[in-house]
Amino acid sequence: MSWNPYYRGDGVVRPGVSLPDPPPWRTFPRASVADVFQPPEGLVEAVNASLALRRPLLITGSPGTGKSTVIEQVAAELDLGPVLRWHVTSRSTLSEALYHYDALGRIHAHRLQQEKARTGAADSGVDDIAAFMSLGPLGTALLPSDRPRALLIDEIDKADLDLPGDLLDVLERGEYRIEELRREGQELAHLRMSGEDTKHPVRGGHVQCTEFPFIVMTSNGEQELPAPFLRRCLRYTMPRPTAALVREVVRRHLRLDVPESGANAELVDAFVRRVSSGERIAIDQLLSTLHLLNGPAQMKDAERGALIGLLMKNLSGA
Ligand SMILES: Nc1ncnc2c1ncn2[C@@H]1O[C@H](COP(=O)(O)OP(=O)(O)OP(=O)(O)O)[C@@H](O)[C@H]1O
Ligand SMILES: [Mg+2]
Repeated sequence: MSWNPYYRGDGVVRPGVSLPDPPPWRTFPRASVADVFQPPEGLVEAVNASLALRRPLLITGSPGTGKSTVIEQVAAELDLGPVLRWHVTSRSTLSEALYHYDALGRIHAHRLQQEKARTGAADSGVDDIAAFMSLGPLGTALLPSDRPRALLIDEIDKADLDLPGDLLDVLERGEYRIEELRREGQELAHLRMSGEDTKHPVRGGHVQCTEFPFIVMTSNGEQELPAPFLRRCLRYTMPRPTAALVREVVRRHLRLDVPESGANAELVDAFVRRVSSGERIAIDQLLSTLHLLNGPAQMKDAERGALIGLLMKNLSGA
């Protein structure tokens, strides 16, 4: 059997061809990575300093070095609840991360209500602004709580130039206001939290945190962040992975011990050599390669070589 008996490229229809089991990191819903993440040197200290100082941790580093994964392990170990996620793009704004108000949806609902009233159909008669509001990941992270929440602000370097400055202010004070609630004089509103169906009471349109969240911000270094912003964060750069770290990551993800020599050892050593010489290549490329090469399919040398070439490409360029 070759490694690709599913699609053959001959146009013959083969209904019911079964695919192999997915790699552990591609099962859905996604399995927790808390017990497979292996922190590189110095990361544990950086996380603990950030927790103790109640300051965000800014993690920089090459693609695939685990920047976005760190927080999963911290949240699981410290029982901080599900990780709140804010994926930043050039269009992201601070207000969307705090809360969302669907004003158009409310107008539409109001019109429907009026229509029903006119035609004599039953209607709830309540115009509750809270039904059209939901908290974003940052807004949820700053809700008062007994335990800090964990918040991932992913790829902060993709943000518009103003965003870090706007964010700074909210993170300094740990509070924000929901003007729409204040304007309408709504003293108590129950707002849906990010990523959950649960609602949280907000009084007087004002939210003030009682436990500063554990915040990880990640960056690929595409844009330099302003000094006042950096001053208020702890910074950690993911180091280039060592052979020992890579072996441990492989063991944890694939339950595979890589011996000192042999085909798997050669792949690991080649990966470490390439990374050390400055090539951009990520550990999950190596994991995918090892997963396929150590699977049930028997491969000829040429097939193995082609597969390695396909999966272990440098990330710089197309
Ligand atoms: N030290 C590690 N221990 C265990 N798994 C790791 C480690 N580093 C990376 N991985 C695995 O590599 C994959 C990529 O990690 P992740 O998405 O966190 O990288 P990233 O640094 O955020 O990359 P990008 O910059 O592209 O967003 C994940 O499946 C993760 O589990
Ligand atoms: Mg990431």
